[in-house]
Amino acid sequence: MADWSIIYDKWVPKEQTLREALCTLGNGYIATRGAFEEARAETDIYYPGTYLAGGYNRLTSEVAGKEIENEDLVNWPNWLPVSFRQSGEEWFHMSNVEVLDFKQELDMKHGTLCRTVYFRDSKGRESKLNTRRIVSMANPHLAALEWQMTPINWSGEVELRAALDGRVINSGVARYRALASQHLETLDQGQYDEECMYLVVQTVQSKTRMAQVARTRVYLNGDASGIMPQTRIEQGYVEHQFKLQATEGQPLRLEKSVLLYTSRDWATSEPLLDACVNITRQGNFEKALEVHKRAWQRLWNRCDLDTACNKKVQSVLRLHVFHLLQTVSGHTVDLDVGVPARGWHGEAYRGHIFWDELFIFPFLNLHLPAITRELLMYRYRRLNEARSAAKESGYKGAMFPWQSGSNGREESQVIHLNPQSGRWLPDNTYLQRHISSAVAYNVWNYYQATEDMDFLSYHGAELLLDIAQFWSTIATLNKDTGRYEILHVVGPDEYHTEYPDSDEIGLNNNAYTNVLAVWVIQKALQLKDVIDDSRFEELLTKLHLTPDDLTRWEEISRRMYVPFLEDTKIIAQFDGYDQLQEFDWDTYKAKHGEAMRLDRILESEGDNVNKYKASKQADVLMLFYLFSSEELLSIFKQLDYDFKPESIPDNIAYYEQRTSHGSTLSKIVHAWVLARSDRKRSWANFEMALMSDLEDIQGGTTAEGIHLGAMAGTVDLVQRAYTGLEIRDDVLWLNPVLPDEMPCLNLQLRYRGHWLQLNITTRKMIITFDKGWSKEVKIGVQGEIYTFRTGDQKEFDIQR
Ligand code: BGC
Repeated sequence: MADWSIIYDKWVPKEQTLREALCTLGNGYIATRGAFEEARAETDIYYPGTYLAGGYNRLTSEVAGKEIENEDLVNWPNWLPVSFRQSGEEWFHMSNVEVLDFKQELDMKHGTLCRTVYFRDSKGRESKLNTRRIVSMANPHLAALEWQMTPINWSGEVELRAALDGRVINSGVARYRALASQHLETLDQGQYDEECMYLVVQTVQSKTRMAQVARTRVYLNGDASGIMPQTRIEQGYVEHQFKLQATEGQPLRLEKSVLLYTSRDWATSEPLLDACVNITRQGNFEKALEVHKRAWQRLWNRCDLDTACNKKVQSVLRLHVFHLLQTVSGHTVDLDVGVPARGWHGEAYRGHIFWDELFIFPFLNLHLPAITRELLMYRYRRLNEARSAAKESGYKGAMFPWQSGSNGREESQVIHLNPQSGRWLPDNTYLQRHISSAVAYNVWNYYQATEDMDFLSYHGAELLLDIAQFWSTIATLNKDTGRYEILHVVGPDEYHTEYPDSDEIGLNNNAYTNVLAVWVIQKALQLKDVIDDSRFEELLTKLHLTPDDLTRWEEISRRMYVPFLEDTKIIAQFDGYDQLQEFDWDTYKAKHGEAMRLDRILESEGDNVNKYKASKQADVLMLFYLFSSEELLSIFKQLDYDFKPESIPDNIAYYEQRTSHGSTLSKIVHAWVLARSDRKRSWANFEMALMSDLEDIQGGTTAEGIHLGAMAGTVDLVQRAYTGLEIRDDVLWLNPVLPDEMPCLNLQLRYRGHWLQLNITTRKMIITFDKGWSKEVKIGVQGEIYTFRTGDQKEFDIQR
C-alpha cells in the first residue's frame, strides 16, 4: 500500500474477488465492485456487482423441504462492460491473453480505480490497456469510465463493444447459491439518441425500478472520432458496437458515462426520463473526474486521520474511512437506508443492517453527524414494525430486529448452510435482543456529540422510551431472589444460542443484555430532566406509559440480575456458563489458526460449540468497550453489586483466553479494553483488526463484502481510545496516550456544532478551534476543565 492507494502489481486470478471487494467504488447511493470491464460473473474469479443503497427484494426458495423467504440486496445491471476484438476473433478477456505486465491502483484520495495491462494474444500481437473509473461523489447518479487500448506491434480492423447488462442474478455468495436469485425483470431497453442507450429493470417483488442510460464516445489518437455506434439489443441487454481501424502505437479510447436513476429517488419524475434528460447535460470523463475529485477533497479535509509517523497504519485507516464514506455519505441523506454490516460491496449478509452501527456511528458522530442522524431516522421510521414485533412476542414497547432490511421486519435467515458440513441448520441468532439497546445507545451518543435537541425531543426520546418499555416487559421478577431476569435471549457471542441438551432456544441472563437494559432504562428516565416537560408528558401519553410503568422501570434499574462465576468477580456471560466445558484451544488453533469459525468446524465434526466455554466474539467485554469504568461501576453500584475496577483486568484475561475471534468486531473490542492496561497486547489486537479486510483474515469472507464495523472500529479506536476521548457531564474529555507504534496523530473533530483540530504527539497536544461559534465549549484535559472560545488555541504538556 502507498500513502493514498492500494496498488496490485501482479495479476493473481485467485485474489480477484477479494480485490473486487476492496476496489469497490461507491458514493453512498450506488456502489460497483472493482471488477474488470470485460468480465461477467464467471468461474468464481470475476463477480461484477452493482448495488443500490437500500435496494432490496424478497424471493421465496425451497430448501431442505421448506419454503423460505429471504430479502436480498439486489445485484443490479452491470454498467461496466467494455471490450474489443480483432474483427471476427474472440473478445479480449484477461483469461485468454498472456499478461506481460499488470498494475491496478485504487486511489483513495481521488476515488478512482485504474488498471494498466500489457498483454500478448495467441497470435503474438501485443497491446496495452488503460482504464480509469469513477462512481461520482459529486453526482450520486453518475458513474463513468475511460477505456483505452493501444496496439503495440500491430494494426488492423477492430470491433469495440460497450454494454449495459441486466442479465444478472445474485450469485456472489457461494453458500446462498441454492436459493432463488432472479431478482430482476427487464422492462425496456433500446437506443435513446445517436450516442445513448438505455436499460430499464425492476425488482420482481419490491417493484423498485432502475433506469440506466449510457453514452459512449470513441476517440482516435486523442481526437473525438465522430463515429456513431451500432446498437444491438437482447432481452435485458443493450450494446453499442464500433468498427474501427486500429493503428500501431495509436491509442483508441472509449468514454462511457452512465446515469442510474431509480423509482426511490427524490427530486425526479420518472427514472428513465430523468436519466435521459440528464445524460445530455454531462461533460466528458475528464470534467466528471475533476468535480468528483473536488467532492472527495472536501470529505478528506474533514475525515482524514493523519498518522504520518506510522505510514502503514495511516494508509489502512484511509482505506477504512474511504469505504465507510463510499457506503454512507451525504448522498445517503433522505434515502431512508441503514448502514449495512458488509458495505454495499457484495452480497454477504444480504446487505442487512445489524448492531454493527454501534462500531460505525462514533466515527460519523465526530465528523459527519448529519449522516448518523439520517441512519438513526432509518430506525425511527421502523418503530411501528418494532412495536408490532414486541407485541407479537407478548411484550410492550419496541423490539428491533436483529437483521433489518427494507421495512424493519426481522430479516434473519431461518436456516443457514454450514459450508463445512453441507448441512442446513436452524439459525437462532435472531434472539439477539440486545440490538434494541444498541439503537438506544446510538441515539444517546449522537445526542452527546451534537447536542441535537430537536432530534432528541422529536425522534430520539421516543426510541429510548419505547425500547426501555420493551426491556421492562421482557424482564421478569424472580420471586426467590427478588431480582429481575431476562430469559431466552442470545448475547453478542453467536456461538451460544441454547443450552447443550436443552430443547429450548436462547439463554438466560446474558450479562451484556441485562446491563444494557438497565442503562437504557436509566437514560429513558433521565430524559425527563433533559427534554421539555411538556414534550416528555406528550410522549408518555403517546406511548401509553403510565406512572406505574415508570415505577417499574425505576425498580428494574435497581434490581436487575447480573450473573457472576461462582466465588469470583468474573461476570458470567450468561447463567450456567460455569457448567460448560473448557475447550481445547491449543489443538484447534494449531489446526485452524487464530481467527476461526468454531461453530462450523465443530458442527462438521458432529460436535456442538454450545457445550464449550468458547466465544465467537467479545460479549462480556463489550461492557468495558461501551462504558468507561466510572460509568459501569456506577451501574453496578446502583444494582447493589460490589464490582470494583480492580476486577476489570481479570475479566478481560478470563474471556481473552476463551474467544476465537470468529467475528472481525471482536479484535476491535479486545484492542480497546486493553488500550490502557496492556498497550502491547492492545496494539497486537489493533493490528489484526486493521488487517481484517486488507488481508482477508477470516479466509474468504471479504470477497463477499467488506466488514464495515471493523473498518470504522479501527478508525474510532485511534480517534477515541488512543486520545482518551469521552463526553461526560457536558465536557469533552481528552487524555491521550498514543501507542509507541503510532507516536503522532493529527485530526479534526466535529463537536456540538464546532470544528476543532487536535495535534497530538507523545509529549504535547495542541487544540485549535475554528471560528464561527455560537458559544463556549468545555474541554477537559487530564482532570482540568478549560473553556474554549472562538479561534482559541491551547497547548498541553501530556508527557506521562
Ligand atoms: C457477528 C455479528 C455481526 C454480524 C454482521 C456476525 O458474524 O457475529 O456480531 O453483527 O456478523 O457483521
